[in-house]
Amino acid sequence: MKFFIDTANLDQIKEAQDLGVLEGVTTNPSLMAKEGITGEANILKHYVDICNIVDGDVSAEVISTDFEGMVKEGEVLAALHSQIVVKLPMIKDGVKACKYFSSKGIRTNITLVFSVGQALLAAKAGATYVSPFIGRLDDISTDGLNLIAEIRQVYDNYAFDTEILAASVRHTMHVIDCAKLGADVMTGPLSSIEGLLKHPLTDIGLSKFLADYNKGN
Ligand code: G3P
Repeated sequence: MKFFIDTANLDQIKEAQDLGVLEGVTTNPSLMAKEGITGEANILKHYVDICNIVDGDVSAEVISTDFEGMVKEGEVLAALHSQIVVKLPMIKDGVKACKYFSSKGIRTNITLVFSVGQALLAAKAGATYVSPFIGRLDDISTDGLNLIAEIRQVYDNYAFDTEILAASVRHTMHVIDCAKLGADVMTGPLSSIEGLLKHPLTDIGLSKFLADYNKGN
């Protein structure tokens, strides 16, 4: 399972990249706004800055909701950098735009996916990635991880190439569960990745090793 970080914060992206396990970045208009990045020129520049930090795919989201607008925006985004993946919403025109981009060899990420039927449509339209939002399903008392399992089953039944990018990951157990269920990628906050490091027996064991070494030196 590939590790992506879900943020537009350059410091956090650098930190994850320095750890040596980062394989991509996802962003969305809310994450850009959170970092105070507004205005088309600044947003486009920020995508390039992100690409220059990370070795891997960087999802850049369109804000148009009609086919023509999505195509126009997506082409600008894709031309920014070879690592850019055009992120499109799971609506009718988003599916059409996905089909258009896949026929042109431009990579796509279909976002705001909340059902297996939506994921099936994304795969049929040739999406590179499909982004089921597991945390937001959990928020409304619906099992987000179950959606990952269902999509995995359907995609495996027909050997679809579309990669399952588990999104709206909120914590470390989501990361572990996504890996158990066979998600191809997970995207979450830096804390969800760093949480994987933690075990009290590691800390206790290391202290003891160091204390024993120091006894003889
Ligand atoms: O990757 C999708 C993500 O940005 C949404 O996460 O935590 O706002 O549901 P969240």
